[in-house]
Amino acid sequence: MINSKKQKQFQAPKGTHDILPEDQKYWKYIMKKAETLLDYYGFERIDTPIFESTDLFVRSIGEGTDIVEKELFTLKTKGGDMLTLRPEGTAAVVRAYLDNGLNVKPHPVKLYYFGPMFRHEQPQHGRYRQFFQLGAETIGDSSEIVDAELIFLAYKLIESLGLDNYNVHINSLGCSQCRPAYLKALKEFYKNKIKKVCSVCKIRFKDSVLRMIDCKEPGCQEIAKEIPQFVDYLDEECRAHFKHILEFLDEVKVPYILNPHLVRGLDYYTRTIFEILPNENITAQSALPGGGRYDKLINLLGGSKTPAAGWATGIERIIMAMKERNINVPEVRPKPKIFLAQLGEVAKRKSLNLFESFRKAGVEAKSSLGRDSIKSQLRIAHRLGVKFTLIFGQKEALDGTVILKEMESGVQETIPLEKIVDEVKKRLKS
Ligand code: HAM
Repeated sequence: MINSKKQKQFQAPKGTHDILPEDQKYWKYIMKKAETLLDYYGFERIDTPIFESTDLFVRSIGEGTDIVEKELFTLKTKGGDMLTLRPEGTAAVVRAYLDNGLNVKPHPVKLYYFGPMFRHEQPQHGRYRQFFQLGAETIGDSSEIVDAELIFLAYKLIESLGLDNYNVHINSLGCSQCRPAYLKALKEFYKNKIKKVCSVCKIRFKDSVLRMIDCKEPGCQEIAKEIPQFVDYLDEECRAHFKHILEFLDEVKVPYILNPHLVRGLDYYTRTIFEILPNENITAQSALPGGGRYDKLINLLGGSKTPAAGWATGIERIIMAMKERNINVPEVRPKPKIFLAQLGEVAKRKSLNLFESFRKAGVEAKSSLGRDSIKSQLRIAHRLGVKFTLIFGQKEALDGTVILKEMESGVQETIPLEKIVDEVKKRLKS
C-alpha cells in the first residue's frame, strides 16, 4: 500500500552534527598526529563508557558549576539508577584508574582518550551539545615538569596542525592553603562593586566568586580588569611550582601569557590552569586545549592522595580553526590510479575478483560495478583523473583478457587477464 501522507523528515538533534565523508580526512589527520605525539611521550589510550553514575560528575566537576547545574544529560534507568552522559573525560578516567587497579602500576600513569562528550549548552559556532574531545592525563606526579610537558604537548599538537598563531594562557589557582586568602581578597574587591555587576555575578558573589572573574558581560569584564591577582597570593610552594613551569616553557619556547582572568569552569583544579587561545579575535569558543592540575580529585573520588594533571581539546574547534585558515590536509585515500569499467553479465560477475587482485597488489583502483553503460563509466574515470581504465566486456570476460586504455593518449591494448596486475604496476612505475 502506498502511503500518500508526506512523512516527517528528521533532523539531527539540536547542537549535534553529522560528520560527513568529506570531513573525515580532518578527523583522521588530527588523530594520527595526536596519537603519534602522545604515543612517543608514553601515553596509553583508554576508553571509558559514554555514561557514568551522575554522582561521579557532580562530585568531581562541582555542584555549583555551569556544567553540573545546567548542562548534564541525565537519565534514570528502569532500575532507578541515575546515569549521565559524560560531559568531559577527566572524572571518568580517574574513575577507571581506581576501578581497574591502575593505581598499583608504576607511576606516573599516562593516559589519553578520544570520544564524544555531551553538554546541554546553548548551541553556537564552536559550542555543541555533542562534541568530541581528545584528552591526556598524567596521574601520580606532582612535579612541575609534568605540567610543562602536558602544556608543551598540547601546544605542539596545535602547532603541528598548522595552527601556529596560538598562545598558552596560564594562571595558578594555588592550593587549599593559599586559596582562601585570595578568595577573601577577591570578595573584598567585589564587595563595593556588587551593584555594578550582572545579575548572575550577584549570585556568584555568594558561593563562586572566582567565576566572576571570567564573566563575559562587558560591564563585569571592565570591573574585572582591576582584580587582585592570584600570583600575589600564592604560598611559597605554589609560587615556586608556577615559576618553574614558566621556566620550562621558556626553555622549550612555548609562547605563554600570564592571564589572571583565567579561572576555568570545573571545580577540581589546583595550582596550574591553562588554555591555548588564538593571538587575536578571542571569543568564548576559541579555546582549543584547556586543562590543569587536579591534585585533590583522586582522593575526592575515593583513592589515596595522588597528584595529577591533564588537558582536553575539542576536535570540532580544531577543524573549524584549520578551515578558517585554509589549512589543507591530505585526502584519506590516495587518488585512484586505475578505473575498472565492466560491461555484461559475465564480466560484472568476474569484476569483483579482478578489483580485489588490484587491492592485494596495493594499486589504488575505483570502479562503479552498479553501472551498465560504458560511456557513463568512462565519464567517471575521466572525472577521477585516473591514468588507466580497464575495460572488461563480455568478449574479454569469455576470452580471459582485458582492455587497458591509457587515458591521456586514448591508446588501447588487449592484455591477458593473468598478466594485467603486473602490467599495470609496471606501467604505473614508468
Ligand atoms: P573544558 O575546558 O571544559 O575542560 O573542555 C576542554 C575543551 O573541550 C575546550 O577547550 C573546547 O576545546 C572543548 N569543548 C568544551 N565544551 C565544548 C562544546 N560545548 N562544544 C565544542 N567543544 C567544546 C575539560 O573538559 C577538562 N576535562 C580538561 C582537563 C583534562 N583538565 C584536566 N584534564
